[in-house]
Amino acid sequence: MKFFIDTANLDEIKEAASIGILDGVTTNPTLLAKEKGKGDFKTILKKICEVVDGPVSAEVVATDVEGMVKEAEDLSQLHKNIVIKVPITKDGLKVIKILDSKGIRTNCTLVFSPIQALLAAKAGASFVSPFVGRLDDASHVGMDLIEDIVTIFENYDVATEIIVASVRNPLHVVESAIMGADIATIPFKVIEQLIKHPLTDVGIKNFLEDWKKVDK
Ligand code: E4P
Repeated sequence: MKFFIDTANLDEIKEAASIGILDGVTTNPTLLAKEKGKGDFKTILKKICEVVDGPVSAEVVATDVEGMVKEAEDLSQLHKNIVIKVPITKDGLKVIKILDSKGIRTNCTLVFSPIQALLAAKAGASFVSPFVGRLDDASHVGMDLIEDIVTIFENYDVATEIIVASVRNPLHVVESAIMGADIATIPFKVIEQLIKHPLTDVGIKNFLEDWKKVDK
């Protein structure tokens, strides 16, 4: 299973990379807006690509085919690892097909139903991003969506990789792994939560106390 970090913050990305668990990065306009004052978004994306040798998702903001393709071509020039995030709309599917034919990888985003994921895969998306946390927020069990997409993709041997997105807590990651999702894109805070266990902390404390009693 691959772990991506869901942030545009370079300090968080560097820290996650330094613990040896990072396979890629996802950004979106909201995450880039949080980095306001730290440079233009293209410079931030380039810097991210220099830190992480894996897919780095950058999202288009145009909503028409021509505009999305133009932005995608521009963004894909930034670095070979840039993957273009395209929303699941009718025009978005057209764009995924066009970009696929040009050899530009896409991450179909804002996926909230299994059939949207299948459509994106059929159009040629390299990745699909179902949003589990936002479904939980709307009183639906977000992880049910992952289970369905994993089943459908297995049924038809679909090569498109599933990125579990809108992750809010460690359980989302654990369940993603159990279900066999390819990737979880995880906020930095949740990565830190994944590492922690109270029994580990107690264990370290006790070992250090006992070490004082050891003849040296
Ligand atoms: C990543 O690809 C998504 O844009 C992100 O996970 C959305 O997360 P949110 O629902 O917490 O905004």
